[in-house]
Amino acid sequence: MKKIAVLTSGGDAPGMNAAIRAVVRCANAAGFEVFGVNHGYTGLINGDFRLLGNRDVSGIIQAGGTILGSSRSPEFETEAGRQKAIDVLKKQQIEALVVIGGDGSQTGAHLLNQMGFPVAGVASTIDNDLYGTDQSIGVDTALNIALEAIDRLKVTASSHQRAHIVETMGRNHGYLALMAGIAGGAEYVVIPEIETNPDIIAEEIKTTYRRGKSHCLIVVAEGAYWNAERLLAHFKQNVDLGYSLRATTLGHVQRGGAPTAFDRLLATRLGAAAVNELEAGNSGVLLGLSCGEIKATPYSEVISHKKTLDLAILDTAEKLAR
Ligand code: F6P
Repeated sequence: MKKIAVLTSGGDAPGMNAAIRAVVRCANAAGFEVFGVNHGYTGLINGDFRLLGNRDVSGIIQAGGTILGSSRSPEFETEAGRQKAIDVLKKQQIEALVVIGGDGSQTGAHLLNQMGFPVAGVASTIDNDLYGTDQSIGVDTALNIALEAIDRLKVTASSHQRAHIVETMGRNHGYLALMAGIAGGAEYVVIPEIETNPDIIAEEIKTTYRRGKSHCLIVVAEGAYWNAERLLAHFKQNVDLGYSLRATTLGHVQRGGAPTAFDRLLATRLGAAAVNELEAGNSGVLLGLSCGEIKATPYSEVISHKKTLDLAILDTAEKLAR
């Protein structure tokens, strides 16, 4: 193999740059030419490539975002779009592709691989909803950013004897909210995995007030039906909570940070492992973390399973909130 390409796709995640750097340097060490694809699958379809040498990825390991840019490409979701991408890759004599991204991006990579083009995936999404890895690139950083915000909000909530709702990202998965809630000492966590009755939350808030706590922190995942907006509207209309109430949505703030040591190391190990797989002639796999080890899981297995959230810790979370 002489030429490979690398792209970042979907929501950017802190650590993507460290993964790009590892792919480029390990591939160059293996004697491959590496092409960076600009703007994810959109750039792939349009042939928007640039040759990346070792110096082109200098000074990026500590940077959030992605030097290649990212996108969500509706065209790539069609077979015609993917065929166009394969034609472009073949014209450039590129023989394999590394896809750094989350659930949707890896589904696209799997389909490309099924159409005969060798792909290795690197698990990267702050949501931690990708099967085949215990933790994806970006999760640790996003969690720490959420936690810093929660710590600050707790301070002001205490000063004013308020209840404060904090909404984390995490589309349909409650991992970020649950872990940020536990690590941030939240009184209540709302996640999409568990049906929630707002009146029960209201009761919890009132009980917290009566117990004399100076604040009540409720962490909600954006994908929960009772997200920050709905909860705020419901409580404002119908309920006397004891505390006055504020809400903060963290949103994309969680995505833009400099990667933590954990994410830099994870990204570096996964990027290097992706190149090793391709060098060994293996493709159609997702590189992820399993019990501390880097593991390649076949795409067929990744795509046919849904990552579930271990809810056992919720029981402990409830006791800790008393
Ligand atoms: O998948 C990562 C993620 O940050 C989700 O948590 C969030 O729902 C989504 O991306 C936001 O997407 P966009 O950046 O396209 O608004």
